[in-house]
Amino acid sequence: MALCAPLAEGGYRVRVDVAEGPMARRIHTAHRTDPLPRAIGLHRRRTAIVVDATAGLGRDAMVLAHLGCAVTAIERVPALCALLQLAVDDLGAEIEVVMADSMSWLSELAADPPDVVYLDPMFAEPGKSQVKKEMQACRILAPAPLDEPELLEAARTVATDRVVVKRHPHNDAIAPGVSHSVKSGRVRFDVYLTPR
Ligand SMILES: C[S@@+](CC[C@H](N)C(=O)[O-])C[C@H]1O[C@@H](n2cnc3c(N)ncnc32)[C@H](O)[C@@H]1O
Repeated sequence: MALCAPLAEGGYRVRVDVAEGPMARRIHTAHRTDPLPRAIGLHRRRTAIVVDATAGLGRDAMVLAHLGCAVTAIERVPALCALLQLAVDDLGAEIEVVMADSMSWLSELAADPPDVVYLDPMFAEPGKSQVKKEMQACRILAPAPLDEPELLEAARTVATDRVVVKRHPHNDAIAPGVSHSVKSGRVRFDVYLTPR
């Protein structure tokens, strides 16, 4: 979607492309039974109100919106937020983009709590050859997260149904209390169901 391509003369070309290419394919071929939608619970319900509290370039948020979720996407890095808003406008997606730190945004959320809070704080280590080009843009612009447990706690306080956390398969859960996990090749989604 956003390609951060190194130029021969130095610097990067950054562009947002949701009309064609891998992101467009991912959006239009998404199914409710795919790992992320399944972790969100979309194989059992038609829709959900979702806060993507680590929106980045919005690739996951756009898939969820395409499958019928009402998505609010929170991103704290202004440049990423601007790229995300452009992509959302290009796609015509029903996503509300908010520039904020999710810790404070979630703690001030008084009315209309979401069904689901989704967290993808994944931050691949520098030098990993498999890091996708879009992730390079995130890595250049966003600092490594230091507040994952606190963010998870804030998310669990507001989500009425569940919190879903994307993890590398070889990394431990951010915190105890995982109800179940949905595994796919390169990622794992840890699901924290809200006690009823
Ligand atoms: C790995 S990227 C997310 C990628 C995203 N899931 C996607 O599909 O494009 C993580 C993003 O979370 C953002 N982030 C981390 N902690 C945050 C916080 N407390 N509030 C808002 N954004 C946060 C970072 O700035 C970064 O852009």
